[in-house]
Amino acid sequence: MILPHPSPLSQAHYSAAELSLDDTTLLLLDQRRLPVEETYVEIRDVGAAAEAIRELVVRGAPAIGVAAGYAMVLAAREAASAVDFAQALEPAARLLVDARPTAVNLRWAVDRMRSLARELGRASAAERRERFAAEARAIHRADVEANRTLGRLGAERVPDGATVLTHCNAGALATGGYGTALGVIRAAIEAGKQIRVLADETRPVLQGARLTAWELARDGIPVTVITDSMAGARFAAGRIDLVVVGADRIARNGDVANKIGTYGVACLARMHDRPFYVAAPFSTVDLETPTGAAIPIEERRSSEVTHAGAVQHVPAGVAVWNPSFDVTPARLVTAIFTERGAADPAESIACQG
Ligand code: MRU
Repeated sequence: MILPHPSPLSQAHYSAAELSLDDTTLLLLDQRRLPVEETYVEIRDVGAAAEAIRELVVRGAPAIGVAAGYAMVLAAREAASAVDFAQALEPAARLLVDARPTAVNLRWAVDRMRSLARELGRASAAERRERFAAEARAIHRADVEANRTLGRLGAERVPDGATVLTHCNAGALATGGYGTALGVIRAAIEAGKQIRVLADETRPVLQGARLTAWELARDGIPVTVITDSMAGARFAAGRIDLVVVGADRIARNGDVANKIGTYGVACLARMHDRPFYVAAPFSTVDLETPTGAAIPIEERRSSEVTHAGAVQHVPAGVAVWNPSFDVTPARLVTAIFTERGAADPAESIACQG
């Protein structure tokens, strides 16, 4: 299905999240159906938005943040005439923040809408609606802009002819548009470099195989999908030049929470003396969280591991552990690219705050 929006802020032919021009509908590309079907879901209330975030219709920390901003617009439309506007929005804000615990952009976007609600205490219902829609669109625009800036910065460290390993999907689909890790790759290509991408399939939800491969293939960027267990053999064969991944939350000391399996990739990169880069907008940096040990790690349902679609491949009743993220310690990270610069995490990302 063609993106049902005439002027998407993603600046692409597809978008993870957009707000309709009349501000009534959040449009989400249903990422559960990719790569087979390109379908947009129309969301008209905050309950449906929280459900869509929980169920991975929209996923990827910055895209979740953008979607949450738009979900607060839907909530604000309902609460616009409340005497205590900020208080009236609290149930919606809490519902959204609780939908996924690790991706800090979600809380960051909701907090930004909360503080706007406090500013609008004496405003008319019409002004509240308008300002909420403008603020959520500003969050979206700023995310795309941040990705282009951090992409350019990161691309300086990508040599011409490089083969780049990435894990999960940190592309346009995981953000407002352009992408973080894939933004670095896109910017390197725009700078005229020849780049090949290796995409880990990313068990158990296969964001690499389904989503990274989909968007890179669509843009004509050469991509090869490997299962997660094949990365070690490619490093050993000297066929990977560097790694770039996104992040769901970066602690004050530079520890990075990202999709489960990222820590293993970072260990392999260190073992084989290859740079391991992290690309994320500054909204992913959580200065209130001192180290990775304090980052809440979401555990998801066991069926993500036991089943592939309707097919069961683990015996019924067998125990399963399904953490959605792991933490890569700062000492394994060569540099973190944000729109504020390239930080050596050992010196601490906090200097950019
Ligand atoms: O569970 P998801 O798909 O929301 O997780 C997303 C990730 O972990 C990605 O790797 C990404 O780097 C963070 S968002 C750019």
